[in-house]
Amino acid sequence: MNTIKIDLNRRFGVIHRDLFGGFAEHLGRCIYGGIYDRGSPLADEDGLRTDVLAALRRLKMPVMRYPGGNFVSGYRWMDGVGPVETRPARPELAWETTEPNHFGTNEFVNFCRKINAEPYFVVNCGDGDMREARDWVEYCNGAQNTAFANLRRQHGFDAPHKVKYWGIGNEVDGEWQIGYKTPQEYARAYKEFAKVMRWVDPSIKLLAAAISNWEAEFVERTKLLLDQASEFIDYLAIHWYVGNPDNDFAKYMTVSEFCEERISVTEGMIRAMKLQRGIQQPIAIAVDEWNVWYRARGATLEERNNLEEIYNLEDALVVAMHFNAFIRHARTVKMANIAQIVNVIAPIFTNPDGLFLQTIFHPFEIYSRTCGQIALDPFWESETFSGGDYSGLRALDVAATLDEEKKQLSVFVVNRSEKDALETTITLDSGQLAGPVQAYVINGPDIKAVNSFEHPDTVNVRKTEVRVERNALVYPFEPHSVTVLVSAVR
Ligand code: AHR
Repeated sequence: MNTIKIDLNRRFGVIHRDLFGGFAEHLGRCIYGGIYDRGSPLADEDGLRTDVLAALRRLKMPVMRYPGGNFVSGYRWMDGVGPVETRPARPELAWETTEPNHFGTNEFVNFCRKINAEPYFVVNCGDGDMREARDWVEYCNGAQNTAFANLRRQHGFDAPHKVKYWGIGNEVDGEWQIGYKTPQEYARAYKEFAKVMRWVDPSIKLLAAAISNWEAEFVERTKLLLDQASEFIDYLAIHWYVGNPDNDFAKYMTVSEFCEERISVTEGMIRAMKLQRGIQQPIAIAVDEWNVWYRARGATLEERNNLEEIYNLEDALVVAMHFNAFIRHARTVKMANIAQIVNVIAPIFTNPDGLFLQTIFHPFEIYSRTCGQIALDPFWESETFSGGDYSGLRALDVAATLDEEKKQLSVFVVNRSEKDALETTITLDSGQLAGPVQAYVINGPDIKAVNSFEHPDTVNVRKTEVRVERNALVYPFEPHSVTVLVSAVR
């Protein structure tokens, strides 16, 4: 018996729309040849690809992280402002290439405005210093008659950009990073960077690069950071990437437990340190890099292939499970940024003539468009499966939200069974379903199905209407599918 029961009064918390954030790095064809392609017939007057802008608008990303990633740990922001002809090209050490700096701060802010996203800058805490970081805040947000605010004006931007989100460093806990930092070094650097950046603009929100290297001493690192710099931390930023290197579908489908573990471990550390130190202000979690990434990966340029991962249907299910986890932890996870947005481990894939939407685009779009502001706490039971280290996991992975203004319920369901449709009774324990219910189904012929330029719709979204009877509906969730049921409620 498969059942989902929803009580509109049982709530996890308020959802921050920043869960649907993105990330753009100077890496491969994300910026150049992706977002920005001056000279292309598809580019607008600012060199931005209009087809990419249109696809991104569909995802309704409220916040966009930039410019890295590993790239930022060797980045000099001053190289990327002012007349393009005078900008220097530099050796780019993180991804072994050359950075022309044709795209920089102002081009990025302009891009964000065109897709309605708040820019979120990460400062260089690798080989960069705190002076460079505070100057960048002044350049972007300064409203007084000061050198860097005036430089921005001279570059044609009179009004401050009002960049609200600032991250200090990227993956400083990994030896792969330019300017890797020990826990002590980072806690100290973070605090000193944060102090001067806040003194320049007290309104900014700061993100600390807490955990990406889950194989290192992340508990001690996080504890030290919270111990020494908590008053300057608005968000603890964590990263992860998942994949299916063993080609084991059932094991891959246990990613829900992976997300659950990493989020709840981080929540626990924040709670413990708040209690121990009497920290009063809220500290949220930002999963500011997450996605599937395991194919285009490795030590050599060939193995990495510019991180141009081609996604299949099972990856789309995994992306949907991430959103389910973020919704269930909406009380603490207040930002999440899929890494990345175009070409580089991304939902959108371009060539000079156009683009196609990868499988993972579809869950992102449907979740972003139908997610309400309230995370509900649904009860569900279903047939079970075993995978990896787990047994007895429910084959359905479920989250639900309520939009109080629109009076709209959304139920998000991943059916992790490869073979079986799971007929499920969905009931409302409080309130009334004011149907009909819209069902958006993401599926394809099999779990390995991919989209491509030749076959862009192999994995796509189907919309149907479902009848409600006596405040309940019976829905057969298709094998290996993501379904979002949207209903008016009274
Ligand atoms: O998103 C690709 C890379 O993954 C980023 O540059 C880095 O932060 C992470 O390791």
